[in-house]
Amino acid sequence: MAYSKCFFKYCCLTLAAVFLHSLIFAGNVSAALSDAELQDIGTEITTMYRAARGVIAKNQKLINDASKGDKGLSADNVIAATKENYKKATGNDFKMADKSSLKGETQAALLGAIKEVMDNAQPLINEKGKGLKGFLPAIFAKQMGDGFNKLIGGKAYIKLTAPKAYVRNRANRPDKWEENVIEKKFKSASYEKNKVHVEKAKHKGKDAFRLILPEYYKEACLNCHGEPKGAKDITGGKKEGGKLGELGGAISFAIYQ
Ligand code: HEC
Repeated sequence: MAYSKCFFKYCCLTLAAVFLHSLIFAGNVSAALSDAELQDIGTEITTMYRAARGVIAKNQKLINDASKGDKGLSADNVIAATKENYKKATGNDFKMADKSSLKGETQAALLGAIKEVMDNAQPLINEKGKGLKGFLPAIFAKQMGDGFNKLIGGKAYIKLTAPKAYVRNRANRPDKWEENVIEKKFKSASYEKNKVHVEKAKHKGKDAFRLILPEYYKEACLNCHGEPKGAKDITGGKKEGGKLGELGGAISFAIYQ
């Protein structure tokens, strides 16, 4: 009797200890991060995302060159050029964080996504005798985002989107929150250009730290997104009638809480 009572007590204490321990330590990784740390991750991942898309934009002529076979755009080369673009944009070297940290995980997922997309794209972009291949910056960006979202396993999310009236690919449509930030903040004359907007808000029904970065049409974009509205661009799509410097898109990022 004495033994079983004691054993019972022991069990209860052990269970309580295990329970307390799990309460303290099993919490969500991101719950422990400060807002500044979350913003740092979001800023870095969206900057790298944009830097990678810039590599494809810069090599568009080469990619569309029917006279060349191997374009030399291996995953390793695209990742190296992405890091160079990142350095140009931020003034800092891209440094991998500890791989068990959320920052390290998001970095690895983004580089992994670039690698997957570029490995898969090799037969398409290296095909000799074919000019336009449909391998455009926005299409690359969509694939990179899908890859990131898969690799990060539900901890974060990234997407290229645009003002609702300008969206070509329905999969890039802004959600309510994105649309609201685009229309009410980014498009307002008083909103500071290039400034990211951050907010704690729902994303796909879950509590999230959300960050969204505005993007504006440059001269090169207008070949496809410019005037006259409705005219066909070289890809066969309809031009948006966009103007130089106008808000043309946004990179949206979320970390679930
Ligand atoms: C060669 C033509 C071309 C050029 C140049 C071009 N785009 Fe696009 N863009 C497209 C096409 C086609 C799509 C649709 C991609 C898809 O179907 O996923 C697109 C999609 C987008 C999207 C995603 C939203 C959507 O409509 O689905 C954004 C944002 C965007 N472009 C911004 C830009 C910006 C900014 C530039 C210049 C830096 C640019 N584009 C240059 C053809 C172009």
